[in-house]
Amino acid sequence: MPDHPTDGVTVVEHALAAHYLTTLRDRDTAMPAFRSAMRGLSLILGAEATRDLALVRRLVATPLEEMEAGRLEEDTLFLVSVLRAGEGLLEGLRALVPEARIGHVGLYRDPATLKPVHYYEHLPPRMDRGLVLVVDPMLATGSSAAAAVDRVKQHGGRRIRLLSVIAAPEGVAAMRAQHPDVEIFTAAIDRGLDGHGYIRPGLGDAGDRYFGTD
Ligand code: URA
Repeated sequence: MPDHPTDGVTVVEHALAAHYLTTLRDRDTAMPAFRSAMRGLSLILGAEATRDLALVRRLVATPLEEMEAGRLEEDTLFLVSVLRAGEGLLEGLRALVPEARIGHVGLYRDPATLKPVHYYEHLPPRMDRGLVLVVDPMLATGSSAAAAVDRVKQHGGRRIRLLSVIAAPEGVAAMRAQHPDVEIFTAAIDRGLDGHGYIRPGLGDAGDRYFGTD
């Protein structure tokens, strides 16, 4: 069941989400289990963030009779992964909604300034027609997420939600200030950022732990 501590922010509360998140946080979790927990959590977060997707009612023939039932139409949902850590969430979301078109925005955080540097972009057409889920597991300073949302808006995105695993209060505040129209879905809001821009207690570097590059 989702909780609504702040306007526009949904902290998804579900026993399995909490279980997967603890696995992700645990420093002794090895890469295969980390990936598996990320996948499980992405399915729960994704289901919550798409709860109200628009469906079109169509006639469907069951083996016994015809009935009207809702179905996803093309261009209802778009997924935009913020490279590279977004790929961890994307894997499960792609399986959850194979109909979704997928885009990528490449941003890395300059270690000195902690500001996002944009290096890649490939976004699908017609994003103005549907819901765009921007996926970035760690909402830390919020600057990468805000920059990714800027790109999505420049590319036509209108109805946008941000999906993260853990958010820092600083990142939530930055996103709400810069993009008040973008709802945030996350599994937890942690204590805050440390001097290196890491979320505490957090889970460490999501990309390194997912890809095994630490
Ligand atoms: N990115 C991460 O991977 N982890 C953090 O704690 C902050 C940003």
